[in-house]
Amino acid sequence: MRSIGMTVRAAFRSVETRFVMTLLPIRLACAALITGLALSGAAVQAQSRSSAVRQEPIQPIPTPVIKNQAMVDLGKQLFFDPRLSRSGFISCNSCHNLGMGGTDNLKASVGHNWQKGGINSPTVLNSSMSIAQFWDGRAKDLREQAGGPIANPAEMASSHELAISVLASIPGYRATFKQVFKKDEITIDQVTEALAAFEEALVTPNSRFDKWLRGDDKALSAEELAGYELFKNSGCVACHNGPAAGGTSFQKMGLVQPYQTSHEAQGRAGVTGKDVDRMTFKVPTLRNVELTYPYFHDGEAPTLRDAVDLMGRLQLGREFSQKENDQIVAFLKTLTGDQPKLVMPILPPSSDKTPRPEPFKRGN
Ligand code: HEC
Ligand code: HEC
Repeated sequence: MRSIGMTVRAAFRSVETRFVMTLLPIRLACAALITGLALSGAAVQAQSRSSAVRQEPIQPIPTPVIKNQAMVDLGKQLFFDPRLSRSGFISCNSCHNLGMGGTDNLKASVGHNWQKGGINSPTVLNSSMSIAQFWDGRAKDLREQAGGPIANPAEMASSHELAISVLASIPGYRATFKQVFKKDEITIDQVTEALAAFEEALVTPNSRFDKWLRGDDKALSAEELAGYELFKNSGCVACHNGPAAGGTSFQKMGLVQPYQTSHEAQGRAGVTGKDVDRMTFKVPTLRNVELTYPYFHDGEAPTLRDAVDLMGRLQLGREFSQKENDQIVAFLKTLTGDQPKLVMPILPPSSDKTPRPEPFKRGN
């Protein structure tokens, strides 16, 4: 899966250079070419998985295989535990609310001390399927990512030492960590491993689109199907492909026409230091996109209608009519899958030795 993503990416990069330099007619031909590339890569992928599945650039979300339920349960407690933050008030779920598609539905998140976050909070649903984590891909996987927010002064504003001393002071956690990791000490690596295990279980199979992919012709209406055909044939699938309908590559925002924004994020250039990577972001997943508004890294597109309109113009040089836009939006809404059914975890109580929360303390 990863190697196919890489091939499409490598192929796309060379096409992209040409793409930027060409004028409108050639540009459209290129879009068709890219679509072809994405399709051939995806077809191999679909075939190897199951012959009953339609061979499309987007594949159904596989049902997760839980390897270690005790670890996942611990990760769930940690995900919901605000004591990992300096304030004792902010948990992962504050900004990745699992009742709201794994996001906060804000343009930019609110962090410690009511600070305005720098960038829109992406969903944690299906995030294990991405080639890397964060908009600019600076964390290679979920484990590497999970340590970040705890110590980020603008998010949970704690430190790894403080978070560990909080957990170690709680007898219920000491017992669970020992049971899961067979060690006496609690470490930050165990915390991030458990969080990642929980997040790997946060997948959303059985969307109506997946039912259609698996052969159920009645799963989509004529309008939704027309929307998918437009999505595929106009070239959206060159970037939004794979089981997550995204997350397989980094691409420029504003490929055909520059994106106008006052937001300071430079995307991938911040990681690679290369000028060509300016305004290049990880292509976001479109799974559950109906739930994850507002859109784009700066949260500047309030509705799906706006996001589709901008994508058409900026990425493909194409203006969709009102009807076409409605069709694509109708298709995008069929990507909403079964949301993880969670029983609220009961968190073990603090002890007399637990460091006290500091909701209004500045910095860390
Ligand atoms: C204050 C809000 C906030 C809190 C709390 C928070 N996050 Fe995030 N999270 C964000 C934002 C904003 C981003 C995007 C940052 C970026 O890309 O630079 C993000 C990115 C992520 C991503 C990457 C998703 C992707 O598609 O790239 C994952 C996974 C994630 N967070 C998990 C967690 C976990 C686990 C915790 C708890 C330990 C947590 N977050 C706490 C706001 C928050
Ligand atoms: C050249 C690659 C590329 C193409 C082609 C493309 N997209 Fe995107 N798409 C992206 C990138 C990159 C982003 C993130 C941009 C940002 O946040 O600044 C994105 C973001 C989105 C979002 C917002 C998702 C979110 O959670 O914020 C939607 C919706 C979307 N695209 C739909 C489409 C549709 C519909 C098409 C076809 C009309 C399309 N895209 C074509 C690369 C592409």
